[in-house]
Amino acid sequence: MFGRETRKIAMLLKLVILTLVTLAAAEDLNFTFNGFQSANLYLDGIAEVTPNGLLRLTNETKQNQGHGFYPNSITFKNSSNGTVFSFSTTFVFAIRSEYADLSGHGIAFVVAPTQGLPGALPSQYLGLFNESNTGNDANHVFAVELDTIQGKEFNDINDNHVGIDINGLHSKKAASAAYYDSNNGRFRNLTLISGQPMKVWVEYDGAKKQIDVTLAPINVDKPYTPLLSLNLDLSLILNETMHVGFSSSTGSVLTSHYVLGWSFKINGQAQELLVSKLPKLPRIRGKKRLKLLTIGVPILSVSLIFLSVYGLIYVIRRKGMFAELLEDWELEYGPQRFKYKELYIATKGFKEKELLGSGGFGKVYRGILPTTKTEIAVKRVSHESRQGMKEFVAEIVSIGRLRHRNLVPLLGYCRRKGELLLVYDYMPNGSLDKYLHDQPAVTLNWSQRFRVIRGVALGLFYLHEGWEQVVIHRDVKASNVLLDGELNARLGDFGLSRLYDHGTDPQTTHVVGTLGYLAPEHTRTGRATASTDVFAFGAFLLEVACGRRPIEAQGPEQDLILVDWVFSCWKRSNILEAKDKNIGTDFVTEEVELVLKLGLLCSHPEPSARPSMRRVVQYLEADIALPELSVLGLSSSGLTFAYPEGFDDFAMLYSSSVAKGLSSSSYAAESALLSGGR
Ligand SMILES: Nc1ncnc2c1ncn2[C@@H]1O[C@H](COP(=O)(O)OP(=O)(O)O)[C@@H](O)[C@H]1O
Ligand SMILES: *[C@@H]1O[C@H](CO)[C@@H](O)[C@H](O)[C@H]1NC(C)=O
Ligand SMILES: *[C@@H]1O[C@H](CO)[C@@H](O)[C@H](O)[C@H]1NC(C)=O
Ligand SMILES: *[C@@H]1O[C@H](CO)[C@@H](O)[C@H](O)[C@H]1NC(C)=O
Ligand SMILES: *[C@@H]1O[C@H](CO)[C@@H](O)[C@H](O)[C@H]1NC(C)=O
Ligand SMILES: *[C@@H]1O[C@H](CO)[C@@H](O)[C@H](O)[C@H]1NC(C)=O
Ligand SMILES: *[C@@H]1O[C@H](CO)[C@@H](O)[C@H](O)[C@H]1NC(C)=O
Ligand SMILES: *[C@@H]1O[C@H](CO)[C@@H](O)[C@H](O)[C@H]1NC(C)=O
Repeated sequence: MFGRETRKIAMLLKLVILTLVTLAAAEDLNFTFNGFQSANLYLDGIAEVTPNGLLRLTNETKQNQGHGFYPNSITFKNSSNGTVFSFSTTFVFAIRSEYADLSGHGIAFVVAPTQGLPGALPSQYLGLFNESNTGNDANHVFAVELDTIQGKEFNDINDNHVGIDINGLHSKKAASAAYYDSNNGRFRNLTLISGQPMKVWVEYDGAKKQIDVTLAPINVDKPYTPLLSLNLDLSLILNETMHVGFSSSTGSVLTSHYVLGWSFKINGQAQELLVSKLPKLPRIRGKKRLKLLTIGVPILSVSLIFLSVYGLIYVIRRKGMFAELLEDWELEYGPQRFKYKELYIATKGFKEKELLGSGGFGKVYRGILPTTKTEIAVKRVSHESRQGMKEFVAEIVSIGRLRHRNLVPLLGYCRRKGELLLVYDYMPNGSLDKYLHDQPAVTLNWSQRFRVIRGVALGLFYLHEGWEQVVIHRDVKASNVLLDGELNARLGDFGLSRLYDHGTDPQTTHVVGTLGYLAPEHTRTGRATASTDVFAFGAFLLEVACGRRPIEAQGPEQDLILVDWVFSCWKRSNILEAKDKNIGTDFVTEEVELVLKLGLLCSHPEPSARPSMRRVVQYLEADIALPELSVLGLSSSGLTFAYPEGFDDFAMLYSSSVAKGLSSSSYAAESALLSGGR
């Protein structure tokens, strides 16, 4: 009797436990979206759900990003012992680009503490991170990236890879997109940007602490062997409640990133998606050729004749269009020589839309190299005479070997009749002058300016002393300082002024440089030296600290000579009065004073009184103290300080160039004119 009761109670208990277990299992979150029409996703950026249910993370907008997240937060951790549950997800994606072989930048599945990753950047940051937080352990982000551009800064293996990212874009593990064919065990490559939909499985085994990522074409079942496997305990990465979703970004190429379907499950296998139920992708354009075949034979042959004639003309024209100059002496420069066709494609035919700006030497275009997909800036320099070209190209190629973190990398050149094209790394933040002058929309604070100044000093020091031969820059100024993605200052245009030197008559040597930056002895003798560069650097220092150009027109007959003005402030013992109002109050007084005084010292009319760039670097790094200015024999009269002689010529030249509207651009003046007047 008693035994029966116990058994009954035991059975009841079992039942209760069973129900509890099933209840617990039922609580495990899962969802399946075969299309997103009814998904009610969280969307931001340019992401949207199309009327037929595609999640389109990016539409055809450049340099932008989009996020699509599951609307609710998800519990990822067992609250009693803090381990991350097993989970699994599968999704179908497709990437459609305006070009067949070029796309950008990619798509990522992401588990993050917040919806939509605020503060993240587009392009290489994939809408996941920004330049300051990538790699930061405080992010608590797990992502699987499908990356279609090779980002050198993140050690990407190629432009078609899958990577496991923990808190940053530097993948913990990555592999070229591919899958194991379950039928024969063969490894087969996939092209992420093929435009075709593909499946991805991401699985985490909470017991084994293992992440598996598997890829396959849409019509292939899940391969047995994952593409990527990584042993890593996500308990240290993820928070208790997290959000799951997708992030995508575009760079310079119009690309649409789609997710067609998605399923997810905690503590179990995510449901397989039903391919037949997935929404349809838009049709790929350009299927017209098929129709031609159905048209009658006579029409076909006539069109064929037309086509071949047109093709012939096209080929001939194309040949002329892409013609470039190549002489024997250039053969050794193979790696530095670019094909004109390559640059033409990169810049979309030197389209006005790709124009970055034009300077003293010619127009600058942005482009993307079709082979490596790196962003470049192409400078078109026109040259009439071929005289001295060989020497110049030799010098450009040799200067191209200069590598320094404060110089714009020169990748190579291309020569054509009447023009020379120089290929540089693209600097996403443009030139420094636009942060300083004409009511800038964005200004730099003092610590940014000081960093820029020290960077330029190091770059110029490297040109003067860091290499086998002295390289004189000849055109140091704010508009020749470019800012890279991390706001590092990089000096551009080095060595370019020599273009006007080679093979020309020394009697009529051009003075190349920019007004206000030209040392007085340079305009007199026409000779550029390391100390004329230091003079220009002095003008640059004042320009950055004061936010004014070296010579500013104040009225029809009146100009503000910056160095004179700073000098007069110094004489009144109030040199800080000269600093840019835009700096605000957050600055280090000693640093501002140092920069202004060093600017004056470098602008000394007497070349021998100017410091070398080595010294300048030591002053800026505070390795040695700047000597008191008065000790250096700067006269107490400001006028004799600036341009004591030759200034009349200088002023005259200046006003005549103003009259021609040349005030802010580089100019080349015949120094013969100047010396003739003497
Ligand atoms: N490597 C580059 N990356 C991005 N922008 C560039 C690059 N080189 C030049 N530019 C842009 O093109 C403009 C013109 O360049 P440049 O011919 O060097 O001008 P300047 O002769 O006035 O110094 C610059 O103001 C800058 O905005
Ligand atoms: C998904 O969760 C629901 C409850 O939200 C449950 O009824 C269903 O059985 C679960 N499906 C799977 C495959 O886990
Ligand atoms: C892309 O999205 C933006 C913002 O939603 C919109 O302004 C733009 O028209 C869209 N472009 C295309 C080609 O759909
Ligand atoms: C959480 O961990 C505890 C202790 O290991 C375990 O007893 C419990 O079943 C776990 N809960 C879930 C939902 O897995
Ligand atoms: C936490 O609980 C889970 C589920 O019961 C178990 O698999 C895991 O080993 C536990 N972890 C620790 C650190 O106790
Ligand atoms: C995630 O967890 C860490 C500590 O484990 C905490 O500092 C952080 O605030 C959490 N983040 C969010 C968004 O809850
Ligand atoms: C980077 O992103 C974080 C948030 O993840 C944000 O707090 C920070 O301001 C961002 N930094 C920049 C430079 O945008
Ligand atoms: C597959 O891709 C890898 C990496 O890009 C490449 O090295 C390999 O040659 C490719 N294999 C085939 C069969 O195309």
